[in-house]
Amino acid sequence: MRRAFLAGALVGLTGCAGEPLGYFDTAGPIASSIANLGIGLTAISVAVCVVVALLLAAAIWRRRGAGDAGIQPVNDRQPIRWILAGVALSTVFLVASAVWTLATVQATLPPAHPGLTVDVAGQEWWWAVKYESSDPSRQFTTANQLVIPVGVPVQVNLTSKDVIHSFWIPKLGGKMDMIPSRTNVTWIEADRAGHYRGQCSEFCGLQHANMAFDVLALSPADFQTWWDRQLQPASAPADDPGLTTFMARCAVCHTVRGTDAGGILGPDLSHFGSRSTIAAGLMPNTPANLSNWIDNTQTIKPGAKMPELHMLAGEVADVTAYLEGLH
Ligand code: CUA
Repeated sequence: MRRAFLAGALVGLTGCAGEPLGYFDTAGPIASSIANLGIGLTAISVAVCVVVALLLAAAIWRRRGAGDAGIQPVNDRQPIRWILAGVALSTVFLVASAVWTLATVQATLPPAHPGLTVDVAGQEWWWAVKYESSDPSRQFTTANQLVIPVGVPVQVNLTSKDVIHSFWIPKLGGKMDMIPSRTNVTWIEADRAGHYRGQCSEFCGLQHANMAFDVLALSPADFQTWWDRQLQPASAPADDPGLTTFMARCAVCHTVRGTDAGGILGPDLSHFGSRSTIAAGLMPNTPANLSNWIDNTQTIKPGAKMPELHMLAGEVADVTAYLEGLH
């Protein structure tokens, strides 16, 4: 109950919709070791505060009882014994905390043999995601979503295209900064299938709070199916009115594999219809939300690089239908 309340309060602070970040409801080995350390160190800190407060209260009580004469030590050695006992006790707990912390850091180091490697590039205010493979024909790019297989350690290579961002999926792993012109390496692993929420956790500008992404953990077999599907080209017919409008108005910035749309300024939209959220985790991916986003981008996410396109209502409907059909 208390955990649920704390999690709710923290999620409230980040102001995000959708999946809760779930700091305490961990679903992977790294996140669990970090959460255990956090809870353990908090418990030790609270215990120390309580013991010190009780000793202080006892001392005040004794002094009050002793009256104006004050407290006289029973013998000369008594005060020094208290100090030695205090130092010894503190040393034991501090050394234990340090060893526990170092062991947790060790547990977060990237595995020597990751089952999957993904490159994630942060930028204001979205995430470009590239799936690596030793077979170049199996590499592909997507955006604002991370699909991973359950029970497989996933190495995540992190960089930034502009300012410092930070990659964090509280239920699955530790937080790691994304720094321009260098690559930081972290890893995540999910113990069970489901959706998890990722969130930028380094202030990076006006829409920092709205720089999130969805993580979907699938069984290894479902993950292979998903990957194979991502490698297929988009499915709309060439005379689709939505595709025509998309090519005229959107293709300068966005890519849809299998079409002539090859822009790289905005998120890759291949298989857009299969994603669960839009605008970097801001809203559920529904036709109504997508139309609203195309129509009112700068009202919904002021400062985002995507301009308002002032499309006709029919064009918005066509592009929405086209994108939602990209599975
Ligand atoms: Cu990106 Cu905060």
